[in-house]
Amino acid sequence: MSPLLLLLLLFLFSILFIIHCTSAMDSLLQGQSLKDGQTLISSGQVFELGFFSSGNPLHRYVGIWYYNISNQTVVWVANRDNPVTNTTGSLIMATNGNLQVINGSGAIIWSTNIFTSSNSSTAKLNDYGNLILETTDDKTMLWQSFDHPSDTFLPGMKLSLNIKTGENQLFTSWKSPSDPSKGNYSLGMDPSGSAQIFIWEGNLPRWRSGQWVGGTFIGTKMRALNIYGFSLTNDQQEGMMYFTFAPANSSLLRFALQYDGVENTSILVPQTKQWNSVWVQPVNECEIYGHCGINGMCSLVGDSSSPACSCLQGFQPKFPSEWNNGNWSAGCVRTTQLECEILLNSSSTTSNNSSETKGKIDGFVQIERLKLPDFSEWVNTDGCESYCMSNCSCKAYAYVTSIGCLVWSRDLIDIYQFSDGGQDLFIKVGGLDPRDGSSKIWITIVVASVMGVAILLLVICMWWRFNAKIKEWWKKDGRKENISSSLQLSTDARSGFSGVLEQQEEGQEGESVQLPVYTVDFIASVTDNFDESNKLGEGGFGIVYKGVLPGGEKVAIKRLSRSSGQGLEQFKNEVLLIAKLQHRNLVRLLGCCIQGEEKMLIYEFMPNKSLDAFLFDPRKKEMLGWSKRFEIIQGIARGLLYLHRDSRLRIVHRDLKASNILLDEEMNPKISDFGMARIFGGDQNEANTNTLVGTYGYMSPEYAMEGLFSVKSDVYSFGVLMLEIITGRRNNSFYHLEDSPNIIGYVWPLWNEGRVMELIDENIQKTCSAQQVSRCVHIGLLCVQDRVNDRPDMSAVVLMLESGGAILQTPKQPTFVSERGPIETGQFSVNDLTISIFSAR
Ligand SMILES: *[C@@H]1O[C@H](CO)[C@@H](O)[C@H](O)[C@H]1NC(C)=O
Ligand SMILES: *[C@@H]1O[C@H](CO)[C@@H](O)[C@H](O)[C@H]1NC(C)=O
Ligand SMILES: *[C@@H]1O[C@H](CO)[C@@H](O)[C@H](O)[C@H]1NC(C)=O
Ligand SMILES: *[C@@H]1O[C@H](CO)[C@@H](O)[C@H](O)[C@H]1NC(C)=O
Ligand SMILES: *[C@@H]1O[C@H](CO)[C@@H](O)[C@H](O)[C@H]1NC(C)=O
Ligand SMILES: *[C@@H]1O[C@H](CO)[C@@H](O)[C@H](O)[C@H]1NC(C)=O
Ligand SMILES: *[C@@H]1O[C@H](CO)[C@@H](O)[C@H](O)[C@H]1NC(C)=O
Ligand SMILES: *[C@@H]1O[C@H](CO)[C@@H](O)[C@H](O)[C@H]1NC(C)=O
Ligand SMILES: *[C@@H]1O[C@H](CO)[C@@H](O)[C@H](O)[C@H]1NC(C)=O
Ligand SMILES: *[C@@H]1O[C@H](CO)[C@@H](O)[C@H](O)[C@H]1NC(C)=O
Ligand SMILES: *[C@@H]1O[C@H](CO)[C@@H](O)[C@H](O)[C@H]1NC(C)=O
Ligand SMILES: *[C@@H]1O[C@H](CO)[C@@H](O)[C@H](O)[C@H]1NC(C)=O
Repeated sequence: MSPLLLLLLLFLFSILFIIHCTSAMDSLLQGQSLKDGQTLISSGQVFELGFFSSGNPLHRYVGIWYYNISNQTVVWVANRDNPVTNTTGSLIMATNGNLQVINGSGAIIWSTNIFTSSNSSTAKLNDYGNLILETTDDKTMLWQSFDHPSDTFLPGMKLSLNIKTGENQLFTSWKSPSDPSKGNYSLGMDPSGSAQIFIWEGNLPRWRSGQWVGGTFIGTKMRALNIYGFSLTNDQQEGMMYFTFAPANSSLLRFALQYDGVENTSILVPQTKQWNSVWVQPVNECEIYGHCGINGMCSLVGDSSSPACSCLQGFQPKFPSEWNNGNWSAGCVRTTQLECEILLNSSSTTSNNSSETKGKIDGFVQIERLKLPDFSEWVNTDGCESYCMSNCSCKAYAYVTSIGCLVWSRDLIDIYQFSDGGQDLFIKVGGLDPRDGSSKIWITIVVASVMGVAILLLVICMWWRFNAKIKEWWKKDGRKENISSSLQLSTDARSGFSGVLEQQEEGQEGESVQLPVYTVDFIASVTDNFDESNKLGEGGFGIVYKGVLPGGEKVAIKRLSRSSGQGLEQFKNEVLLIAKLQHRNLVRLLGCCIQGEEKMLIYEFMPNKSLDAFLFDPRKKEMLGWSKRFEIIQGIARGLLYLHRDSRLRIVHRDLKASNILLDEEMNPKISDFGMARIFGGDQNEANTNTLVGTYGYMSPEYAMEGLFSVKSDVYSFGVLMLEIITGRRNNSFYHLEDSPNIIGYVWPLWNEGRVMELIDENIQKTCSAQQVSRCVHIGLLCVQDRVNDRPDMSAVVLMLESGGAILQTPKQPTFVSERGPIETGQFSVNDLTISIFSAR
């Protein structure tokens, strides 16, 4: 190295050094102090620390706020209960290694109050808004402000509970909007160790989040909190349980417990530097903890004049006159005692003879759409109902997907019935007459003996009508060659045939839907008693088996998991809905089975399984040449168009993905799994849902983040699917590649630079038409645009696919592709979404 260069480098370094020294500090070293008026600024200029006053100018506090935001947003306060009374105070790094706030006469106002053997420590403000006190030499952390929160929950912080010591880290509200001293409200985890968040007013619970279920809390209408990287960690070794959140850009989001006890989550819009509220804890009577007392239920459905509280089924007000006057605090008591309790008492006092029960039994009543009561206990069992029935201390149970079986053995408190969403609760009630239909044995006996003959007659009558109808259908469809096999199915299935599911629609050209219903025994016989070897696959709703009918025809039988939580009516409606949908690109429903707990759907059999089995299999993908893939894309588009527009029912699929596209023997695509589809009214084009169904990666931003779904969210999924078919790569295979978070991030830049041929599956590179592929990528990118209104609808997509002419508008750049993508008000970049997938792993 030449001396000149060395000199130059030295010169540069010294300049850098000077710049560094004159620019704002982020640390306070041993012996240094920060006077009122001076500030520390984190190295990335995100947070600032210093003295501030709020309201009373003579009350000076040391706090941390966001740097360069015109309306100061304070996230942490040191001496919140003990202000310095004029501007002579300072923050010092004391000789005993503590950080202290002192006033003009040197009195210690506030201190980190730690004992350290090291006599030299450093305080540093980092870009997460955390003030860290560490030893100067070996950087051992001694203290951090994140462990002593004020009212704001920032990314990287932990909302924690130490299960061993019971130490609960609480957030405490300000006293008023301008007074940072400790207010009446605090927020923290449930001290009893359940995964719930509480807000207390003084020592009394005021609000409860409800159980943490699949990325969100039952009681918050803030959907999919894990979108913001919000997650629960249960560190059993340390005995710690904590919530953290980590969105893509850590300075964007904050959760604050306001002075009025309301939790408010807001996000900073970079352009305007304004806070925008993402979610505010709703304020109404039913949100107040235990508003209706024990065994009472709060509900806002109905007109406002009706009381918000009601007793659970099987309960009555403890003090009816007070209750009727709107004093609900005493709650409700059982109308009839549980039989198992009577039994227990009599056996403990006199004998264990069960003749005391006089033939009455206990049973369960189902209550829908609830914020489940407090004090749930998790039980590791599949038979939640039988567990609760056989255990007299169990008062209620709920089966929650992603948690499992929850039971309650204490009085039920804090139940809120939502108008949509929530979970179903089964409450044990006593004194049921078995003949009222709660005993299966009785039903069987009565039905078998008394109604037997009548049912037989009914079946014969319906059978005759059904046969006539089926012939009509097939004739209409013009697929005569299939008539025989379908009739074969029905004829040979006679032994297992138990009726017809039927729905006559009013005012609809007399069109009706009929579907054969089979018995469980029959289905068991055609699947070798649900033998493992006949298992075709397993979906979200249950296991799919292959069945061979007595006539030799193969069918696919989807055995819905018993815990799917669906009511019988809902199930029947869904089945009829599916039966109405007939299109060559939809899997056809042939029959069903509803018997007791068992619910099964019988579909036509697809010998080639699903698209993903070909597309993502290195060996099999060669079988799909470009022209076949193009046909598949077109077929899916037509099937989807039928669902969206032509089926008259306007169905949104909501879970379109490669594994839901089945292939028949000629590799024609057929869309399957309408289990999650919902009908919605004629002119409504966006529905709001509480339970997210769908698959990450295929979900449109508005659906994943706000739970809004529409035909346009299916268009988004279709776009992703299309890009997968072209590239031959799974959307979620991209996460480990740093520069492209998902398939869209991978395709966009290449397409934009005109390098389409580089992104397509190498197996089709030779056979494809470059112009056609490019056009398909173009259409795919139009479908995955962030804004709902920018996306084409399926009729436009089908038109674009089928006409060869010139397209088309240019797709807008997806937000996450650029580092500084525009963030629209109330909508977030897809970055957050991918982050959540990371944290979900
Ligand atoms: C502070 O914000 C203003 C606009 O609000 C901007 O012009 C300025 O560059 C910012 N300064 C820094 C250091 O970020
Ligand atoms: C700051 O707050 C005042 C009222 O407190 C409001 O009028 C103003 O719009 C706010 N400015 C910004 C940039 O948020
Ligand atoms: C600060 O307050 C102290 C005592 O209250 C007083 O002695 C001192 O003069 C004040 N300093 C200023 C700058 O107001
Ligand atoms: C400092 O605090 C002490 C004790 O709280 C008080 O007696 C004294 O007047 C204060 N001095 C100033 C300058 O505020
Ligand atoms: C720190 O402590 C060591 C011995 O414990 C002592 O020698 C040294 O002078 C102290 N340094 C300061 C700055 O007080
Ligand atoms: C806090 O509690 C006190 C006493 O119970 C009450 O006077 C005050 O209004 C409460 N403050 C708020 C913000 O609710
Ligand atoms: C967050 O984003 C803002 C604006 O895009 C940027 O100024 C800031 O440095 C980012 N903060 C972090 C911690 O990445
Ligand atoms: C929530 O916070 C935002 C931003 O800080 C504020 O504009 C809004 O008024 C707050 N909402 C409520 C209900 O207090
Ligand atoms: C409501 O009822 C409880 C007990 O039943 C009673 O202690 C309380 O005084 C009543 N409150 C009102 C406002 O009547
Ligand atoms: C049964 O025993 C429990 C506790 O021993 C008691 O609370 C309850 O009142 C008893 N019930 C009857 C019917 O004796
Ligand atoms: C009745 O109770 C006795 C002792 O508590 C027990 O040994 C016996 O098995 C019980 N009989 C029945 C039928 O439960
Ligand atoms: C139990 O009940 C049966 C029939 O009610 C009676 O014959 C028998 O003696 C009873 N046994 C006892 C131990 O009470």
